[in-house]
Amino acid sequence: MRTKVAIIGAGPSGLLLSQILHRAGIDTVVLERRTREYVLSRIRAGVLEQGLADMLRAAGVGERMDAEGQVHEGVNLAFDGRLERLDLAGLTGGKTVMVYGQTEVTQDLYEARDAMGGVVIHEAEDVTPHDLETDRPFLTWHRGGEAFRVDCDFVAACDGFHGVGRQSIPKDRIVEHEKVYPFGWLGVLSRTKPVDHELIYANHERGFALCSLRSDVLSRYYVQVPLETEVEEWSDDRFWEELGRRLPPEVAARLETGPSVEKSIAPLRSFVAEPLSHGRLFLAGDAGHIVPPTGAKGLNLAASDVHYLSRALIAHYHDGDENGLRAYSEKALRRIWKAERFSWWMTTLLHSFPADGSFGHRLQHAELDYLFGSTAAMTAMAENYVGLPY
Ligand code: APR
Ligand code: PHB
Repeated sequence: MRTKVAIIGAGPSGLLLSQILHRAGIDTVVLERRTREYVLSRIRAGVLEQGLADMLRAAGVGERMDAEGQVHEGVNLAFDGRLERLDLAGLTGGKTVMVYGQTEVTQDLYEARDAMGGVVIHEAEDVTPHDLETDRPFLTWHRGGEAFRVDCDFVAACDGFHGVGRQSIPKDRIVEHEKVYPFGWLGVLSRTKPVDHELIYANHERGFALCSLRSDVLSRYYVQVPLETEVEEWSDDRFWEELGRRLPPEVAARLETGPSVEKSIAPLRSFVAEPLSHGRLFLAGDAGHIVPPTGAKGLNLAASDVHYLSRALIAHYHDGDENGLRAYSEKALRRIWKAERFSWWMTTLLHSFPADGSFGHRLQHAELDYLFGSTAAMTAMAENYVGLPY
């Protein structure tokens, strides 16, 4: 088998890259370790920057998002008994975010790939990149006991944090920066009316909480939990009670509860690998970096990587221009580090850090009080939340 760009991973990064390249006449093969059903059963975040929404439209996959997604012009922060709204649109000259689940984005991308006859191979085991430092790289894998190989010009590793792509870069050619937080998020999806039509991020002495949503009848909530806790320890009743205690009383009073459709715990981590390329291998999305979910940047950063990488590959094939590929890592990393900073800042501002003592706690409150007293500070938060330019 031969293709131009072999893509490892059929998450949003890999599928979006393959969709954009295919529309530009560049053929790809996508190799995914899991089944399609498994990929589509993962519940992930759901806030799309305008840049990503525009990219999806330009790639021919924006129709259902525009019909079913919700445009949000603001987000809310609760702290110290206050509930404050950040007017995203007003502070950024009309920019907004689109609330639409990553699972839906992935499904729309799969359908678009089907419609164009895109090649996505599932249950590909032991995917292994070879000869990445030559101009004839190839991938091998197994499927149902048989061995396969695809020859290509380039390999795009869109295979997430635990993927094989980053691991195939020699240790002395890559630097990894990491920060692990001493807590996780327990998330619940429920078929209940969202407590608010906008998101509410809450700083509370019992720990952070977030009220989000997927539609008028589907809610997504999170509470900060210790790393040692197991999901089995959290009955639905315990979850609802804890969430209610962390929200302002007037919000808690209108919280509609019901059985959870999904419940899971995710640890929080900041991680960046540098550089994002090695020979003919390019890393995109979670394969190269992770952010804690507090700023809702994970999917959006994957999209900006795909933006830079797809443009660079198109310039290579259409114009013989190598500059984009040479500059990919540096260009993507400049934006990644700014999103890492913002995600760390929001995480630090809103979570409970008992180890930081009362001094740390008072600083958080001073910062929140300052934020909502200063148009400059609110503008800085809003422009990061809606997404920095590509
Ligand atoms: N071989 C083939 N496929 C692999 C391998 C491998 N060795 N390792 C991982 N994969 C697949 C995973 O099964 C997964 O489907 O790669 C895909 C990576 O998808 P994601 O983890 O969704 O990563 P990405 O596409 O970069 O999307 C980033 O996902 O985790 C969220 O917060 C993150 O929203 C962000 C988005
Ligand atoms: C979500 O809806 O799942 C969500 C929203 C905002 C975040 C993180 C997750 O910051």
